[in-house]
Amino acid sequence: MSLAAPPQDPDAPRFRVRPPANWINDPNGPFRWRGRYHLFYQHNPEAPVHTNVHWGHVSSPDLARWEHHPVALTPTPGGPDEAGCWSGCVVEDDDVPTAVYTGVDRHHTGLGTICLARALVPEDETLTDWKPLPTPVVTGPPAGLDVVMFRDPFVFRHGGRRWALVGAGHGDGTPSVLLYDCENLTDWRFAGVLLDGNDPVAADVFGDGAVGWECPQLFVTAAGEWVLVVSLWDGKPCTTGYLTGRLEPYGDGGLRFRPYTGGPLDHGRAFYAPAVLQESDRALMWGWSWEAREQSEVDSAGWAGVLTAPRVVDVHPDGSLRVVPAPELELLRATEPFVTAAGRVPLPQSYDVTVSADAPTTVNLPGSAVHLDPGERTVVFELGVDGSAPIVVRVPGGERLEVRVLVDGSLLELFVGDRAMVTERVYRRSDDVPELVVAGPTAAVTGWELVPPTLG
Ligand code: FRU
Repeated sequence: MSLAAPPQDPDAPRFRVRPPANWINDPNGPFRWRGRYHLFYQHNPEAPVHTNVHWGHVSSPDLARWEHHPVALTPTPGGPDEAGCWSGCVVEDDDVPTAVYTGVDRHHTGLGTICLARALVPEDETLTDWKPLPTPVVTGPPAGLDVVMFRDPFVFRHGGRRWALVGAGHGDGTPSVLLYDCENLTDWRFAGVLLDGNDPVAADVFGDGAVGWECPQLFVTAAGEWVLVVSLWDGKPCTTGYLTGRLEPYGDGGLRFRPYTGGPLDHGRAFYAPAVLQESDRALMWGWSWEAREQSEVDSAGWAGVLTAPRVVDVHPDGSLRVVPAPELELLRATEPFVTAAGRVPLPQSYDVTVSADAPTTVNLPGSAVHLDPGERTVVFELGVDGSAPIVVRVPGGERLEVRVLVDGSLLELFVGDRAMVTERVYRRSDDVPELVVAGPTAAVTGWELVPPTLG
């Protein structure tokens, strides 16, 4: 089934990855296999609430057209994942795509186990059949560190070996990322703490609110910098951050992450638990965008959550995040733009609009507005409805201010040049006027409706 089926619900995104109904949270295991992108996600197939979590599965030839597949991982009654197949990644192990994920048992203590499931290939090139191993490869956290939260394995390669990160929190409230050597995917060795919240750069960048770091992700840029991404958990999902630094040998065959800078990953209020796919020439990132409305409204809509558009992530020479939408998203643009100049125009339901300016400019959308102030070097995002504080993004001098707004149903993704991303949810109201109004003396505007790509 195509993801771009006609929506019944104007708030439901049509082009971003989400199951047809019920619950989705984290993206899991982005993976390239035989020329297709595969993406998995935390999914409750029975209700729009977070429980009984499975792995949903989609794939795409081009990051624009996505196809749904059957659920990939299902909790096994009596197994280590009987209460949920929580987050993890997918890697190739001796040519066999292998899901490395968090098993949650019926005691649900916050301490997961690390489980494997192998894709049944070559019988099944579409990766639709997965066989879980009956016992975990890691049954719990390392002893002696008072670990009280343990989950979300992320496997990567460095120095010719295979390693894994695991998100953790300790009894004294310190969050950390634990490191394992897993050259042999069925025989893991604890290799120390990669980084914890007492690191001065991490403490400065993230503050002291988090008691656990969930879903650690790591990628290396073309310039050889390492970027560590974590989701800050303070008893509930809170926000995300990144650190740029070096990976150094440490202790007896371990590694240490030495950050020198970092910041918030996404400046919006509806972005969490991103997953990264390291490609040879770039890194792609998807995040989970949660609902920002009452559960009663979610229940009547029958669906909750969506994944963001894929973003290409990198760092500027000073180590700060560089982020742009994946260029493949242009495949979703209609042939002709619906807007080519400032002023007032009717808006389609889903669109991709770029505005640049070197004088103060306001972009009004239904339920929200974006203010560009080149003098102040700021871009301010405001929600019209709920009285929440505006989101202010500061942009270094010397660059023309440019924003790109991707709207798909209630999911709004704002990119400020290649410097910042802001993920927000903006729901339709009965008094909305579906218009784009751009007011600014020097504003340049181009926008396209999003349409299902033609098969090619
Ligand atoms: C992040 C998270 C992960 C966990 C998963 C459970 O949103 O809490 O830490 O593995 O979701 O669905």
